[in-house]
Amino acid sequence: MPISRRQTLGTCYYPEHWPEERWTTDAKLMCEAGLTHVRIGEFAWSRLEPTRGEYQFAWLDRAIEVLADAGLKIVLGTPTATPPKWLVDEMPDMLAVDTDGRQRGFGSRRHYCFSHLAYRAECKRIVTQIAERYGRHPALAAWQSDNEYGCHDTVLSYSTAARDSFRDWLAQKYQSPDALNRAWGNVFWSMEYTAFDQIELPNLTVTEPNPAHVLDFRRYSSEQVVAFNKLQCDVIRCYSDAPTSHNFMGSVIDFNHYDVGADLDIATWDSYPIGFLDRDTDDEEIKARYLGVGDPDLQAFHHDLYRACGAVRNGEDQGRWWVMEQQPGPVNWAPYNPSPSPGAVKLWAWEAFAHGAELVSYFRWRQPSFAQEQMHEAMLLPNGEPNEAFHAATEISSILHDLGAETTNARADVALVFDYETAWAWQTQPQGADFSALDAALRWYRALRKLGLNIDIVPPTAAAMEGRKLIVLPSLFSISDELSAALERSQASILIGPRTGSKTPDFQIHPDLPPGPLQRLIDLKITRVESRPPFAKLAVEDDLGLVDGWREFGRAGGAVSCRLKDVEGVPSWYQAGRVHYVTVRPDQQLSNHIAREISVEAGLIIYDLHRDVRIRRNGRLRYVFNYGPEAVDVSDLVCADKLVHGTSQLSPRGVAICELGD
Ligand code: GAL
Repeated sequence: MPISRRQTLGTCYYPEHWPEERWTTDAKLMCEAGLTHVRIGEFAWSRLEPTRGEYQFAWLDRAIEVLADAGLKIVLGTPTATPPKWLVDEMPDMLAVDTDGRQRGFGSRRHYCFSHLAYRAECKRIVTQIAERYGRHPALAAWQSDNEYGCHDTVLSYSTAARDSFRDWLAQKYQSPDALNRAWGNVFWSMEYTAFDQIELPNLTVTEPNPAHVLDFRRYSSEQVVAFNKLQCDVIRCYSDAPTSHNFMGSVIDFNHYDVGADLDIATWDSYPIGFLDRDTDDEEIKARYLGVGDPDLQAFHHDLYRACGAVRNGEDQGRWWVMEQQPGPVNWAPYNPSPSPGAVKLWAWEAFAHGAELVSYFRWRQPSFAQEQMHEAMLLPNGEPNEAFHAATEISSILHDLGAETTNARADVALVFDYETAWAWQTQPQGADFSALDAALRWYRALRKLGLNIDIVPPTAAAMEGRKLIVLPSLFSISDELSAALERSQASILIGPRTGSKTPDFQIHPDLPPGPLQRLIDLKITRVESRPPFAKLAVEDDLGLVDGWREFGRAGGAVSCRLKDVEGVPSWYQAGRVHYVTVRPDQQLSNHIAREISVEAGLIIYDLHRDVRIRRNGRLRYVFNYGPEAVDVSDLVCADKLVHGTSQLSPRGVAICELGD
């Protein structure tokens, strides 16, 4: 049975930034806006321990009391993303080293190297102090470990600490240099080693380093993030029963979030739709149309991804997840920082709730007038008066209250596999400049969301395949026996994208040729791949869309039919019963067409949504969103007498919620 949980709002607060006399007013205003949770503490190390061993917790005790007395629940962050200057001076080699071999400096944040064991010991020490002191506080609702692992390009560090510990990691994995040489193919270019301590990190090479070397370093680096996080969670659990969480970032794929999620009770992420639009979306039409609201599918993609990360720890089907930081107004860090369009700040919260978030917490409570983020808007203006997001939150919390809204996530019929190792593999050897695993997944995600489907994003495990009607493997680089057996057992339609199953885990071309073990599902061998520049897109038959940059040439067995060809007569889509192999990277139009056809065949109920409209079901509620700049009539999607919020004439950035039957 899916567990139901109340949905509510919060904010991120920095009591250390404001005079103590103001705290009571802030707490009172938070309650007036209907907020129930407040996150504090995650950057406060220099105030908690100004010099080694001189702990100063009295101010934090008082801040927590003020907030708790007002009835707020505390989310307490560990301050390890901002090691203070005295600590860096004590151990300067704790600083991370970039790919050009330069040490990163003090003066912002996230300046530590994950591999530095003495820094980890320092983290353990400060987290122990904090957990011991606040672990049983009655107002404590949850913990946040560190802040946004990987943000500012901080997972990979080419430090001496990383090199030494990577050598040990390799020795454990391969046991002998010969085994490593074989796995990596080091006979090529005389790269063979005779001892593990000869191996350097894969930066500063003259040309491309061995991809297997890079992939192992990516795996090693990801494991350091997992270990760093686990250490904190283990300490916290000795002193506290409050759930642990971490705030993941959007589009950061440099470590395995599922693996970090395995040590968290709640996965959370930081959603900045307009900042991400400028930074992460290439499509100029999407950028222009949704300038003030963000890409209609990118937030949703991350909501679905992080729900899966929240599920790993308990082996649950659907995980606990929050938005720990929600954009409240213009941010400061994208190249351009437009204002949210009217309604956008509210729409973002409802989209998160529709995907099952328990909490949406605005970043941040009050705009600072100092330092790096002084141009980042907040719920309050720099002078302490309410700003737009304050009013938006007040409205949302009152509606949530009236709705008695709860999340009741159920397993979706559609599973879309997203895999971090695949993302690293295609970054390491893209073969076509713009080929990326995230992009490959997003194209199918957009296509399926346009059909109004609920989608679970899942890791490539056998368990995640169970009970589905449609499984999508956008570009999974290597297929385990376990996964391949689960796919063979499954009754679902299976949509396989190019490059899937093309490699062994050691980053070698699969001995049976791509798609490797999936040939048990479809009798097809890929014998050539080509990548094509953006000016050389190819139309497919019947003008159904374009081959966009990637094309494969296959040899199919007799039971396999060709469902679509391009203008040069090369098959773009093969089918064997319920199994489909798409040999190309399809543009969005072609992706939409293929996803639609296969969804119908899979027996899914689909919709023809207006270009700006998206829907999502959560329990008995259907949420309908208009991301566009014009009003849209959605009476075909909502039943007027079942509306619990909004109207069927959806204003720009409007939201309607209606009740469905069982
Ligand atoms: C997040 C970060 C916050 C703040 C915010 C600004 O990435 O966790 O501390 O910097 O961005 O948008």
